[in-house]
Amino acid sequence: MQNIKFVPTEAPKQKPETSKLSFGKSFTDHMFVMEYSPDKGWHDARIVPFANLTLHPASTVLHYGAEIFEGLKAYRTPDGEVQLFRPMDNIERLNDSADRLCLPKLDPEFALEALKTFVATEKSWVPDEFGTSLYLRPFLFGNDETLGVHTIQNAVYMVIACPVGSYYPEGINPVKIMIETDDVRAVRGGTGYAKCGGNYAASNRAGEVAEKKGFSQVLWLDGVERKYIEEVGAMNVMFKIDGVVVTPKLTGSILPGITRRSCIQLLKDKGIPVEERLLSVDELLTALQEGRLEEAWGCGTAAVVSPIGQLSYQGKNYIINNFEIGKTTQDLYDTLTAIQWGTAEDPYGWTVKI
Ligand code: PLP
Ligand code: COI
Repeated sequence: MQNIKFVPTEAPKQKPETSKLSFGKSFTDHMFVMEYSPDKGWHDARIVPFANLTLHPASTVLHYGAEIFEGLKAYRTPDGEVQLFRPMDNIERLNDSADRLCLPKLDPEFALEALKTFVATEKSWVPDEFGTSLYLRPFLFGNDETLGVHTIQNAVYMVIACPVGSYYPEGINPVKIMIETDDVRAVRGGTGYAKCGGNYAASNRAGEVAEKKGFSQVLWLDGVERKYIEEVGAMNVMFKIDGVVVTPKLTGSILPGITRRSCIQLLKDKGIPVEERLLSVDELLTALQEGRLEEAWGCGTAAVVSPIGQLSYQGKNYIINNFEIGKTTQDLYDTLTAIQWGTAEDPYGWTVKI
């Protein structure tokens, strides 16, 4: 395994006030970096002061979107220690994304070691209020200095981190979501299941329209028939219909969320049936109109478990559960966050101590 060189910052930053934390605006003192080349493999692993990058103007990432990323959090537990939530799942998904975009993969054991070493370095940046955490953003990009469209030879892997509070300004209060009928995010056979920057760039136009209309995010429909529910911009979705939790199955165009996977397990262990299947927008809205849609929520690392209080489709607004957080949503939020923040036992072995 490579050694990780450490160059400490000479100018430590002032940390933001925990009570005022938002999402992704302030960054810690250091960053993890290493490079890949065909002759050396991954090399020069280092933790260095947080700084701007210098890139060749022809760098592949700037022209052909060769970029993948991850998102996970470090949580401060009641005993003052720090833990990660299912970090190996993020590393494995990063490697799946790398496979899709033909970027070099990481050695999973080393990637975990690097994450842990980086978080240990930035430990003082992990905020200690329940609901706050240190968001980690690993990312990997192609960095060949040529405009030819070729298989990528050179790449960079980095991890940056920011102390965060709620992703949505609403916190755990319900959000409003617009079902998108024009643009599509991804298609089967495309890159929907990979966590690559291009998926988010393709989402921007619909997101901007939704935001202007007062919605937090867009709910995507499948790219072929525009009929089946897929996911929201930064979270997977779950609907409780007639006592059963229905979540879109992983068809290849949806991100296989780690929070989704965790929620499915928690729900099943609570005795709540879960169906991973195709769910059409018609079926969903019929259930809503007939009063059978009991609750809806999104789930993701940044968004945690976030109730959906309103859906809009073709200009009509539909209120879910009186725009209140539902019992199952709240219970799921409480159970998941207790494991993540270490206020309850982790019977699943999901947490990894730093
Ligand atoms: N779907 C999309 C498009 C996302 O960006 C995210 C966030 O990472 C998720 C789902 C949820 O995935 P996870 O729970 O692994 O964070
Ligand atoms: C995450 O939840 O980690 C994400 O990557 C969502 C992000 C697009 C804000």
